[in-house]
Amino acid sequence: MTYVPNKDRYQNMVYNRVGKSGLKLPAISAGLWQHFGEDNVYATCRDIICRSFDMGITHFDLANNYGNPAGSSEEIFGKILRTQLSGYRDEILITTKAGYDMWEGPYGEWGSKKYLVASMDQSLKRLGVDYVDMFYSHRFDPETPLEETMATLDLFVRQGKALYVGISNYDLEQTKEAVSILKRLGTPCLIHQPSYSMFNRWIEDGLQDYLSEEGIGSITFQPMQRGLITNTYLNGIPADRAAELAEIGITEPRVAKARKLNEIAEQRGQTLAQMAIAWVLRGGKVSSVLVGASEMKHIEDNVAALNNIEFSNEELKQIDLILK
Ligand SMILES: NC(=O)c1ccc[n+]([C@@H]2O[C@H](COP(=O)([O-])OP(=O)(O)OC[C@H]3O[C@@H](n4cnc5c(N)ncnc54)[C@H](OP(=O)(O)O)[C@@H]3O)[C@@H](O)[C@H]2O)c1
Repeated sequence: MTYVPNKDRYQNMVYNRVGKSGLKLPAISAGLWQHFGEDNVYATCRDIICRSFDMGITHFDLANNYGNPAGSSEEIFGKILRTQLSGYRDEILITTKAGYDMWEGPYGEWGSKKYLVASMDQSLKRLGVDYVDMFYSHRFDPETPLEETMATLDLFVRQGKALYVGISNYDLEQTKEAVSILKRLGTPCLIHQPSYSMFNRWIEDGLQDYLSEEGIGSITFQPMQRGLITNTYLNGIPADRAAELAEIGITEPRVAKARKLNEIAEQRGQTLAQMAIAWVLRGGKVSSVLVGASEMKHIEDNVAALNNIEFSNEELKQIDLILK
């Protein structure tokens, strides 16, 4: 059956200006790293995208290497765009990135012009679009001159292959250098994409303040620490998955903290996932929060976080005490 988007899709979503740019991002964006590849059920991927769009999520975050096999996230998203969302390209922001391991040999990762140019062309082909809205250098390359990486981002904007550019996972000093090179080239750095959650607060150590002083936006990832700050493990970690989950930081001592955080979430009338998202958005410093979902009801639960993103000083103090 042909998908017809919800006509009220823009009624309840909040759209935040990205730094000092002309662009606005939905407060919640959809991340398509996990659960969105050739080895996932296509119908679930399609329904997650359509439900997201119905709820006002206009921004979909991808990278060259997302999906299993790498690249299949972009292919699946491209297929959904051509089928369900055909005719809605101008209402949608598509992001992709390059930096991590994508193909064999010396030109398949990091930040050289050779890699980035080939990767951009492959991404556009997989997505089936002429341009992406944002293109990121996915990680800082300690060997390639930063001038080369940033000049390639500038080139993409001049070629019309990307409307805006950003950086991801760059630390404060790397960010300062990248921003100054891009400024000199005449293509501003629109946005930074760092990790950030109640359990991971590194951006509070200077990066967040620098971005806001420079008028650069931020879109943060892993607000729920891949499921740790949700209801999923509150009754215990399944013994047969303990080793696999420990590798991504989901351990019993951390789940014990999540249980205490859940008591605060309950007092706030939120699920733990909702509080995790609201906490990232508190105070308006973050333009958008990227969330992953393995089922459609996650999207609905997560968007409802926007009903309460204010925290009292007492709640913030209690959260800090739990996480100490
Ligand atoms: N720039 C980068 O280097 C980088 C790195 C990582 C991620 N990202 C971006 O950030 C996005 C999100 O990252 P992520 O998926 O790793 O982390 P996340 O958003 O913190 O966690 C998502 C996971 O939490 C669970 N979940 C989500 N909503 C839930 C809910 N309402 N109730 C219960 N469980 C819920 C689901 O896991 P289960 O159902 O499997 O338990 C889901 O897969 C990625 O898709 C990607 O776009 C970027």
